[in-house]
Amino acid sequence: MSQRDAADANAVEELAMVFPNVDAAIIADVYGANGDIGSAAMALSEIAGVSSSSSAGGGGGGFAGLPAADREPQRRPATRMAAGGGAGGGRAPAGAPGAPSAEDDVAMAQLLETQLNLDAGGGAARSRGSQARGGGGGGAAAVAAPSAAAMQAAIWPGCEPLRFKKWVFNTMKQERGERPWELEGEITAVIHNKNFEEGGLRFVRRMREVEPDGSYLEYVAKFFKFEADKREWYFGEVEGQMEAEKFAQQFNQMKPPKKVGFVQPAVIECVQGPDPATGRAHKHAGRMCNIEPLMEGHYEKHNDNDGNIFMDKKVEFVRNTPQAFSHFTWEQSGNRLVVCDVQGVGDLYTDPQIHTTDGKGFGQGNMGRAGIDKYLQSHTCNDICRMMGLRPLRPGVSISSAAVSQEVKDYATYLGIQPSEPDLLWIASEGLVAPLPQGWTEHRTADANPYFHDSKSGKSSWQHPYDPYYRQLVTKTRAAAQIGATNMPGK
Ligand SMILES: Nc1ncnc2c1ncn2[C@@H]1O[C@H](COP(=O)(O)OP(=O)(O)O)[C@@H](O)[C@H]1O
Ligand SMILES: [Mg+2]
Ligand SMILES: [Zn+2]
Repeated sequence: MSQRDAADANAVEELAMVFPNVDAAIIADVYGANGDIGSAAMALSEIAGVSSSSSAGGGGGGFAGLPAADREPQRRPATRMAAGGGAGGGRAPAGAPGAPSAEDDVAMAQLLETQLNLDAGGGAARSRGSQARGGGGGGAAAVAAPSAAAMQAAIWPGCEPLRFKKWVFNTMKQERGERPWELEGEITAVIHNKNFEEGGLRFVRRMREVEPDGSYLEYVAKFFKFEADKREWYFGEVEGQMEAEKFAQQFNQMKPPKKVGFVQPAVIECVQGPDPATGRAHKHAGRMCNIEPLMEGHYEKHNDNDGNIFMDKKVEFVRNTPQAFSHFTWEQSGNRLVVCDVQGVGDLYTDPQIHTTDGKGFGQGNMGRAGIDKYLQSHTCNDICRMMGLRPLRPGVSISSAAVSQEVKDYATYLGIQPSEPDLLWIASEGLVAPLPQGWTEHRTADANPYFHDSKSGKSSWQHPYDPYYRQLVTKTRAAAQIGATNMPGK
């Protein structure tokens, strides 16, 4: 075994002790993908839900560079959901406690994977449907309606298959400054006659898009609740979701432990012809709705558009990835907008709300600056935020260099913060009071110079064990601010 292999094996073993409920093969995989133990631990804490109680009691684990207070167990809610508060009320059954790994979620993970492939290649057919229509040429070819016999399996009793026009939003065209809306063609679909769910604005029904051979794809159809629904609303919903998806792709480029994505929505309009017997227009002709793939599994809302953060009822804590995603959008947009109302199955999301600083666009739910402020006040930065070098959100705490003590200034210089970077001073003021990891103590030499001692290794050091972490935070925050300034969305 080479030295490198031995080090890897050690790391995997150490991780296995901290995550006793996670399969050894998964640990090895995650470690391989992340390359270092700290990032692997973060990734695993997302996968396993928590980094297990053993790490809280077991001597701190030793993930170099990660302050103890930042580890998962600290953020676990002290109280469980009250009985009856959530489905089942108790813990998940055997296996990794609280692991979001139920079978139904696997299907959604696959759907997310499809979405991610689409993002990467752009060309992959996203469904049998688009394949059947001969690929993404963008033409408005109508597919032949399936025969009544072929459709039998797809039809719910009492529900009628109808013809619809379908529009999709093409982000690549939008980015080239072309008209982004494409008429994809005509489809046959059967919409269930009862609501399946409802949100604040829309009723949601099951829908099946039926192929000429009778096979079908599972969708949901969403109708605005108000009689006077406007055509633009349906297109607006899709535009918001596609905008959020752009941020999801940028988020994924930062190599987070878990990738995120939004299901791809579309607009359809009923174009069923008149009844041949009576010659009268079909009663549903002209009806519009939004459609998107049905997500099966544990649906969860992680935050809303009014500054509320929600615990995931299945894993019983506030998940990091969705919250970090909202924070990321604020920074990535150059502080122009926040994507919130993050909800869905696993990290496949839908129905986001975008608040913009100018309050324009993205529908009735855009609460402008007020919505943004509510979000900023509610968010607590987590490991994923830090890993991405996102600037912590501390509303009301903006540090002016005049108000900073000499001690903070000296430490700032030590961390590599320039006098021209007052925006980074918060890192120094936070780093200066960072607690020591377990087993570490601070001492003074005879001439009063501080040094640090680790009882576990028996070694002493001039530098605080978290100095490298804060130095890295400076570099990452600086880089992220540059991305934010140059990578603004198109509108
Ligand atoms: N793609 C989907 N797959 C499965 N269920 C969904 C899907 N989209 C929404 N739902 C369910 O429908 C509810 C309402 O949908 P939502 O899009 O939030 O409507 P609204 O625009 O009114 O907020 C959601 O809370 C969820 O339970
Ligand atoms: Mg909603
Ligand atoms: Zn954050």
